[in-house]
Amino acid sequence: MFTNEQTKILQQAGKNFLETAGKALPVSSVALLRDVLRFHEYRYYVINDPLIADAEYDRLYKMLEKAEEADPSIITPDSPTQRVSKGLIKDFPKVQHLVPMLSLDNSYNAEDLIDFDRRARELSGVEEIEYCVEPKFDGASISLIYENDLLLRGATRGDGVVGDDITTNIRQIRSVPLSAKFSQYGIQQIEIRGEVLMNKNNFKEYNDAIEEQGLPRLANPRNAAAGSLRIKDPKEVSRRNLEAFLYHVSDVTLQPGHQQPEILKTHDGTLQMLWDMGFRSPEKEKKLLKGINAVIDHCLAFEKQRDDLPYEIDGMVVKVNKLELQERMGMTTHHPRWAIAFKFKARQATSKLTAVEFQVGRTGAITPVAKIDPVTVGGVTVGSISVHNEEYIKDKDLLIGDTILIERSGDVIPQVVKSFPELRTGDEKTIEFPVTCPVCGSLLEKPEDEAVWRCNNSNNCEAQIVERIIHFASKDAMDIRGFGDAIVKKFYAMGYLKNVPDIYRLPFDKIRTMEGFGEKSITNLQAAIEASKSQPLHRLIYALGIRYIGETTAKVLANAVLHLNDFTSFSLERLQELEDVGPKVAGSVYSFFHNDQNLQLLNELENAGLQFKNLKKDLPATGNLSGKTFLFTGTLSKLKRTEAEALVEQNGGKLLSGVSSKLNYLVAGEDAGSKLEKAKKIATVQVISETEFLKLTGADTLTS
Ligand code: IVH
Repeated sequence: MFTNEQTKILQQAGKNFLETAGKALPVSSVALLRDVLRFHEYRYYVINDPLIADAEYDRLYKMLEKAEEADPSIITPDSPTQRVSKGLIKDFPKVQHLVPMLSLDNSYNAEDLIDFDRRARELSGVEEIEYCVEPKFDGASISLIYENDLLLRGATRGDGVVGDDITTNIRQIRSVPLSAKFSQYGIQQIEIRGEVLMNKNNFKEYNDAIEEQGLPRLANPRNAAAGSLRIKDPKEVSRRNLEAFLYHVSDVTLQPGHQQPEILKTHDGTLQMLWDMGFRSPEKEKKLLKGINAVIDHCLAFEKQRDDLPYEIDGMVVKVNKLELQERMGMTTHHPRWAIAFKFKARQATSKLTAVEFQVGRTGAITPVAKIDPVTVGGVTVGSISVHNEEYIKDKDLLIGDTILIERSGDVIPQVVKSFPELRTGDEKTIEFPVTCPVCGSLLEKPEDEAVWRCNNSNNCEAQIVERIIHFASKDAMDIRGFGDAIVKKFYAMGYLKNVPDIYRLPFDKIRTMEGFGEKSITNLQAAIEASKSQPLHRLIYALGIRYIGETTAKVLANAVLHLNDFTSFSLERLQELEDVGPKVAGSVYSFFHNDQNLQLLNELENAGLQFKNLKKDLPATGNLSGKTFLFTGTLSKLKRTEAEALVEQNGGKLLSGVSSKLNYLVAGEDAGSKLEKAKKIATVQVISETEFLKLTGADTLTS
C-alpha cells in the first residue's frame, strides 16, 4: 500500500505536524495531514505495526478536527474525522445486494476434501487444480460497495438477498478504508464481501466490562461482532474496536472502455489488490497450493495454530484460484461449487443440566451456576457453567433436566448457547431462586433497575469477604502469584485472613508448620506479597473491588489523582467530569470513599506500605530504567504490549515511537520486522529480548 519512500515521507510529515502543534494549520496542509492520519490508521489497524504512539495520533487527529471546524467547506467525505457520527441511528433500511450472498458447502475431514476435489476436477476439466486456502473467519459477514473510489454502502448479510444498511456503523471500523483508488484499475463500482470480527482480547475485555455491570457474558465473539453492528449509537460501535477481513469481490462495474483488470483473474490476485489498496484482506494468511493433498496437510496444520491467532476462526476456506475455472464450475442456489469450508473441530458440545447452585460474589450478587454432566469443549472438561441471572435463564429457556448446547470460544469461560425444548420429557423442573443468602442467610434484595439478586450484608457475609480477597490478589488486580482461591479459602478457614489488609500481616511462622507449605513456596509467596505493594495505583483501585469499576475505569480514576486518598474530597460532580464516568459509577466511587469501614481498610493498606501515589504523574527519577528510552516491536510472549509499556513508565523509563539514535533499547518479540532491521543498523541501539527487558526492570524475579 505504501512504498518505503512514501512511508518515510508520511512519517516525517507527521513529526513535522506534531512540532507545529498550537499553530494554525494552513488549508494547503490539510490534505497532507489527512494522508498522514490514513497512513497511521493503516499501520495500526491493517498491518498491526504502528509507527507512532496513540497519544501522538490523537494529537494529529485533533489538529485536523480543529482545521475542519474552522472551515467546514474543506471537509471531504473520506476524511478520517468523518468516521465519527454524532447522534443515534433511527433504523437500518433494507437494501438488496448486487449479487446474492451465498453460503459455503462444508467439509469435516480429508475424505470430504478429496470428494470436493474430484467434483471440481470433473466440472472444470482440469487435471490438477490450484487452490487458494485461507482462514474461515468466525464473525458477521458484510458486503461493501465502493463507487467512484468512495465507500458508498455497507450491509449485513440478512437473508442473502436483502440485508440491512449499516453504513454508519461500518464507517466506525478503522481497518475499512473510507476511500480506495479502484479507479486505477478502471473500476467504477465494486461489491466486496468480508467478515467483521471482535478479536479475542477485545472480546474478553468487553465481556469483563459487561459482567462488571451485572450483565451476562456473551457466548462468542461472533455474537459480539454481529450484535455490535446493529447498535444504534455509532460511538459505542467505535468503542467496540471491531475489525474486518475482506476476502471476496462479488461484482465489478468497469468504467466505459475498460477491460477486466489482469489482477482480478485469480482469487489470490483479488486478495493482493485489496491488500495493496489498504484493505485488510487475508493476503498474509492465504496459501496457494496445487492438488488436494497439499490442501489437506495445510488445513490440518493450520488447525493446530488456531489458538495462537488473535481472532477466532472456525475452519479454512478452500477456493479454486482461477476465476475462469470458478465461472465454468458455477454455483447452486446455496453455495458456489468452486469453494468449500473445511470446518475445525467444534468448540460446542451438548450436555444435560442436572442442578443449579447459587454462588455469592464479592459484591453480594447471587449467581446461579448450572451443574452439567461433564463434557469436553475446546480441550477442557466443563462440569459447571454460569447461567448469570433470572432473566438469562428465562431468555435461554432453561429447566433442570434440559439438554443444552454449550460453547467455549474466544474466551476462557464457557457459555450456554441454547436449550433444546423439543427434547423435553416432561420431567424437567423450573429453577427456583432462593429468598435468603445461601451463605449468611440474610434476606436477598433486587433493586428495580438491576437484573441480579444481592446479599447486602457485605461486611459480614463470609462468601463476599473471601471473594474480595481473591479478587484483590488476582492476576489483573494486585497479581499476587500463588495466592489463589484455594490458599485464600484455607487461610480464611484457619482465621489468618479476616479481611484484605491481613494479606500483609500473615503469620508466616504458623503457616510454615502447615502441611503443604515448604520453605520455597513460603519464600515465593512472601516475595509476591511484598512485590504487590508497589503495583501501580490503577491496579490497586481495581483490586479494591469497588462496584462498576473495571480495569479501564480504574485507569481513568488513577489518572485523576496524585494520591488515592484524594478521592475522599471528590464531589459527585467532579467524578462525573471524568471520561466515561456516569452517575452510577460516580455514585459507587463516592460512597466507597465515604464509608468508614472502607476508609479504615485503606488506612491499614497504606500503613502496610502499599503504593497510594500515582507514579505516572510523578515519575521516579531513580527507577531501574531512569533516563533510558524504549521501544517494543513484534509479539511479546509473557507481557501484553500495554503491560510492558507500563513497566517502562513505572520504572522511570521513557517510550519512543520510532527507531532513531535517541533510542537506547529495542525490545524485540517474535516476528519483529522493519524496526528490528533499522535498529540493527544503529550502533547505539541495544536490541534485547523480552526476558532481558524483564531482568532490567527487576520484574523477572516474580516470573521465576
Ligand atoms: S467466501 C461466494 N471466504 O463463512 C463466496 N467466506 O459459512 C462465499 N466466511 O457466508 C464466501 N471466512 O460469511 C469466504 N475466507 C472466507 C470466509 C468466509 C468466513 C464466512 C462467510 C460465509 C460463511 C459460510
